[in-house]
Amino acid sequence: MSSPVTFLREFVKDPVQLGAVAPSGPSLAALMVEAADLKPDHVVVELGAGTGPMTAEILKVRPEGPFVTLEPNPPLADGLKARFPGVRVEQKYAQELRAILDDMGHDRADRVVSSLPWAIWSDELQSAVFSAILDVLADDGRMVTFAYVHALWLPAARRLRKALEDRFHSVTTTRVAWLNLPPALVYVCDRPRRS
Ligand SMILES: C[S@@+](CC[C@H](N)C(=O)[O-])C[C@H]1O[C@@H](n2cnc3c(N)ncnc32)[C@H](O)[C@@H]1O
Repeated sequence: MSSPVTFLREFVKDPVQLGAVAPSGPSLAALMVEAADLKPDHVVVELGAGTGPMTAEILKVRPEGPFVTLEPNPPLADGLKARFPGVRVEQKYAQELRAILDDMGHDRADRVVSSLPWAIWSDELQSAVFSAILDVLADDGRMVTFAYVHALWLPAARRLRKALEDRFHSVTTTRVAWLNLPPALVYVCDRPRRS
């Protein structure tokens, strides 16, 4: 079964976990990974890999180096393992990041490439996932995460922007990937605030 069909089928089963009806396109994947500014020695974590559009771009730009990708949905995680045989794919939630990095022998992540559906989550779930990310992100670390442009004026998107600004010293946005369906931009979140 093709990736978009698998993704849509899993969306129908669990729309809140999937958060989108279709995988991201190559223009958004390229924008995300460009914004992540990956270096050869970075410990890179991908959250919510889905069918792997961001994973493929990460590996294209940074083929070697410490990398783990998380996808809790079982059929999607199985698809990632088949598509990227040499890659560490964990069928786990972002909330389990500390244990995953410990198991890899790393005490911090330099880059987090997140496709998580923040905007449709409760405050409690957002906070739990932010805590897990901030717990492992290096002091000079960066998280990138995307948002759909048509929804930026909605309360959920404004709540996300505030949540990011509360948790990072610097939050900027990229240009828009107009070719993505729907068009999206990327939040570039630098240097976690340690409360
Ligand atoms: C909007 S999709 C993005 C998929 C893919 N990265 C893309 O851009 O097409 C969000 C993905 O996050 C995953 N996800 C949801 N909650 C998660 C969590 N707590 N930790 C890690 N991944 C999660 C979902 O299973 C889903 O595959």
